[in-house]
Amino acid sequence: MVRHLLNMKILPWTLIVFVLLIFCNTSLAWRRFLRGRSRYNLGYPDVSKQINLPKELWFQQHLDHFDPTNAKSWPQRYFVNSEYYKENGPVFVMIGGEGEANATWMVEGQWIEYAKQYKALCFQLEHRFYGKSHPTSDLSVKNLVYLTSEQALADLAYFIEEMTHLHQIPADTKWIMFGGSYPGSLAAWMRVKYPHLVHGAVSSSGPLLAQIDFQQYFVVVESALKTHSQACVDAISAANNQIHIMLHSPLGHQNLNKKFKLCDPIDPSGTKRNDISNLYETLANNFAEVVQYNKDNRQSSKIKNYTIDTICDILVNETKGIPVDRLAEINSLLLEANMEKCLDYKYSKMIDELRNISWKSEMAEGGRQWFYQTCTEFGFFQTSTARPKLFSETFPVDFFIQQCTDVFGPRYNIHLVEKGVERTNILYGGLHLSTTNVVYVHGSIDPWHALGITNSSNIQTPSIYINGTAHCANMYPASADDLPQLKLARQQIGKLIGKWLE
Ligand SMILES: *[C@@H]1O[C@H](CO)[C@@H](O)[C@H](O)[C@H]1NC(C)=O
Ligand SMILES: *[C@@H]1O[C@H](CO)[C@@H](O)[C@H](O)[C@H]1NC(C)=O
Ligand SMILES: *[C@@H]1O[C@H](CO)[C@@H](O)[C@H](O)[C@H]1NC(C)=O
Ligand SMILES: *[C@@H]1O[C@H](CO)[C@@H](O)[C@H](O)[C@H]1NC(C)=O
Ligand SMILES: *[C@@H]1O[C@H](CO)[C@@H](O)[C@H](O)[C@H]1NC(C)=O
Ligand SMILES: *[C@@H]1O[C@H](CO)[C@@H](O)[C@H](O)[C@H]1NC(C)=O
Repeated sequence: MVRHLLNMKILPWTLIVFVLLIFCNTSLAWRRFLRGRSRYNLGYPDVSKQINLPKELWFQQHLDHFDPTNAKSWPQRYFVNSEYYKENGPVFVMIGGEGEANATWMVEGQWIEYAKQYKALCFQLEHRFYGKSHPTSDLSVKNLVYLTSEQALADLAYFIEEMTHLHQIPADTKWIMFGGSYPGSLAAWMRVKYPHLVHGAVSSSGPLLAQIDFQQYFVVVESALKTHSQACVDAISAANNQIHIMLHSPLGHQNLNKKFKLCDPIDPSGTKRNDISNLYETLANNFAEVVQYNKDNRQSSKIKNYTIDTICDILVNETKGIPVDRLAEINSLLLEANMEKCLDYKYSKMIDELRNISWKSEMAEGGRQWFYQTCTEFGFFQTSTARPKLFSETFPVDFFIQQCTDVFGPRYNIHLVEKGVERTNILYGGLHLSTTNVVYVHGSIDPWHALGITNSSNIQTPSIYINGTAHCANMYPASADDLPQLKLARQQIGKLIGKWLE
C-alpha cells in the first residue's frame, strides 16, 4: 500500500534554506525570541546517523474552510515516513506549528520511537502561513484573516481525508496526533473537534488557555532561576535596578551603550519610553529563552551551552564585578552564541520589520505570523506585571497592545485582542476540555505550563507534570543525562498510546 514511499529519500535541500536563515547574520536579538516563540521553533532533534531525510511533498488545500463558496486553494507542504509502517498499523501525525516544518522530525524524536514500537505510518503537516506553506501571495492584513487555529485544524481534517484516500489507508485505522507548544494545543483540539477522525493525542507543553496578560510566564522563569539560588534572582533584580539609575544620566547612557553592545545609542533625551521597554524586555527574554529551553536535547540550538546553571553561576560570581556587569557578560555571551554583533532594542526598527508583508522578509520566517495570532487569538503577552522588581515594570499589557496596533493597524486594539482571546476560550473550552485519549505533558520549569492542564483528575485524559524539565522536553530524543522522571514520562506516554491502540 504505502511501501513505495520507502524509496523516496532524497537530499535535504531544506538544509540550505535553514543555513541561510542562520547565517544571514542578523544583529537583532528580538528576532530570535519574540512572544515566547523562538525563531528555531521546536528546534530539531539530533540526526546522529547521516540518514537521508524524506523529501517534501505537497497537496492542494482549501483557503477558507468556513466559506463553502470560496473555491480557492493553495499547496500545503507535508512529509511522510512509511519505514516503520506495517499493515493495520496506526497513523501518527506530527502537527506543524509557528515555524518551518523540519524533515529531521521524520526520522528522530521520541514519537519516532513510538512509531517503531507500534508500526505506525508517520506524517508531518506544515502549519498554514509558516515555512513554505503559503496560502496567499503575501502577509498583508487582508490575507492574514486566513491565519487562524480553526483553519489549521480544518487543514488537518482535510489532510487526514486526503492521505486516507491517497495511501488507501483502511477506514478503521487509528490516527494519533502529536504536537509540542502551540501544536500541543492543536493536537488536543483535534481530538476534541474531530473525534471521528482522530483517535488520540499527545499534547506536549500546550497552552490551552488563551490569556492577554500572561504574567505567570515570568513568575515561572523566576522560580526556575531559583532552583539555582535566590542569589541568582537577587542579582538580576539588582542589575536591573542599576540599569534604571544609569538611564537617568548621560554618562550612564554611555556605559549602557558599551556594556550591552547596543546597536543604537540610547536616545540622549532618555524619553523614548518604547525603546526603554523594549530594552528591558529584550534583556528579560535572554532569561526566558534560556529557561524555556533549558537542557532540552535540541541539537541545533545555539544557546545549548547556556543553561540556568551556567548563567546563574555568572550572575552570582561577585569577582566578576557589580551585578550590571555580570548581566552584561551574559548578554555578550548570548549575542556571541547567536552570532549577533550588537543588541537591537529600537522599537521603531522592530515594528518596521514586523510590518513587512513580503514572504521574502526575515519576519516572514514566522515572527509576523505568530505576532498576528497572539494579537487576534491568544494574547499570551509575557508582561512584567507580576515581577516588576525583577525585570522592571516597563513592559505591561499596554506595551504589547501598542505593538499590535502599530504593526497591524488601529483596529487591532485592546478591544479586538480581548474579544479574540475570549472567543478562543469559548470555542475550545480553555482548561475545561471534555474528551478522551489525550495526554497533557508539561515540565515544571517551562513557563508555558502555567496555561496548560497539569493536574488532570480524569483517567481518560491524564496529565504528566515532569519535575525539572523545560519546554517540550519529552519530544526530543533521549539522552544519557535525562532526569529519571523524564525517562519515566516517555514510558508512560508510550503505554498510554498502546492502550489507545488496543
Ligand atoms: C532541520 O534541522 C536540521 C538539524 O537537525 C537542520 O540542519 C536543517 O537545516 C533544518 N531544516 C530546516 C528546513 O529548517
Ligand atoms: C559548547 O560546549 C562544548 C563543551 O564544553 C564545546 O566543545 C562547544 O564548542 C561549545 N559550543 C558552543 C557553541 O559554544
Ligand atoms: C568567578 O569569576 C572569576 C573571574 O571570571 C573566575 O576566575 C572564577 O573561576 C569564577 N568562580 C566560579 C566559582 O565560577
Ligand atoms: C521587506 O523585506 C524585503 C526582503 O528583506 C525587502 O526587500 C523589502 O524592501 C522590505 N519591504 C519594506 C517595505 O521594508
Ligand atoms: C489544579 O491545580 C490548580 C492550581 O494549582 C488548582 O486551582 C486546580 O483546582 C487543580 N485542579 C484539579 C483538577 O486538581
Ligand atoms: C522537584 O525536584 C526538586 C529537585 O530535585 C526537589 O527539590 C523537589 O522536591 C521536587 N518536587 C516535587 C514536587 O517532587
